Amino acid sequence: MSDVTNNTAKKSLADIYSHLPDQPSEKTLAEADYQARHWSSPIRGPLKPGTPQHKKAMADMFRETFNPYKPSVIAWPDLDPETLKRITSLPIWDIAVQTEGKARLRMAAYADMLTDPDIKDAISRNAWEENRHKEVLSRMVEHYKIPMAPETAYIEPKDTEWAYLVTGFSECWDSFFAFGLFALAEKAGLFPMELIETFEPVMQEECRHILLFANWLAYHRAVMPFWKRPWFELRVIAVLFFLLYERLDLVRTIDDKGVEHTQDNNFTVTGAKSMTDQQVDFVGLMELCLKEDERRFAGYDPRLVRPKLAPFAARVAIKAVKFWRKLHGEKPEPVQYEALSDAS
Ligand SMILES: [Fe+2]
Ligand SMILES: [Fe+2]
Repeated sequence: MSDVTNNTAKKSLADIYSHLPDQPSEKTLAEADYQARHWSSPIRGPLKPGTPQHKKAMADMFRETFNPYKPSVIAWPDLDPETLKRITSLPIWDIAVQTEGKARLRMAAYADMLTDPDIKDAISRNAWEENRHKEVLSRMVEHYKIPMAPETAYIEPKDTEWAYLVTGFSECWDSFFAFGLFALAEKAGLFPMELIETFEPVMQEECRHILLFANWLAYHRAVMPFWKRPWFELRVIAVLFFLLYERLDLVRTIDDKGVEHTQDNNFTVTGAKSMTDQQVDFVGLMELCLKEDERRFAGYDPRLVRPKLAPFAARVAIKAVKFWRKLHGEKPEPVQYEALSDAS
């Protein structure tokens, strides 16, 4: 890969950032938001993974759905003491900031080793957007004085493809559940609307990210020489086991005052109780995640590949729990489902 291509990609990203508007009008904001959620390729016919048409559509989708919000101008709402406590005590902030930092580094490292200009551009932009997520979170943490453990050093991955696969698959898994939890939080009204609205574009951005990852994966598989495929699939399976192991583990870190921070790697699955004061039934929550997943992807060209693993796991889990309950004559936990079922 030539330095010229590398510099051009970096320059264009720096250009985007320096041109983000400080105070866009309501109309500009609404248009940008709409464009970030709706996109179709003008290319006619099927978009078969592995074809130049599919590759171009994937890169165009990512570039053209960019939302130009600027973290530095976000006005953080004042919170009453109870809400502030609820937010600061969520066991996620260290992990959230570090996950964005790691995602940025890993995506940038993978993009750097690519030569295909379309895919390189899309993944470089994704890395840039991860950095913006990190900035949003860091500014929020600073504003509300959330106690944080010191960030560990971000180390360039040695195996860039492995690191990219870990980041991509974990985003697919975590975003699926985060979509449901976010809708739950919105309906429950325990968090101020301004805060929900601030994080809404971040949520939708994760949807675009996993859409890109699913299409990159389909493209990568399709153009890979057949003899490399078995090794690649073994690595994918290993990545999935690694993520399972990681999500069963709580992360403990000690800050500079000697205070232990326990962070939940699996908060997107276990965090429902923090999002609402109502009882949450597992099946109801999984159904909400499925519904939200569908809603967030609905505006993008249906010819692009969607992430399938987490929705598949949720459907299997719903069936298994329903079967178990039937077998044992159990009724679902009493829940106020109006809160779950009309999330739109
Ligand atoms: Fe992110
Ligand atoms: Fe992301």
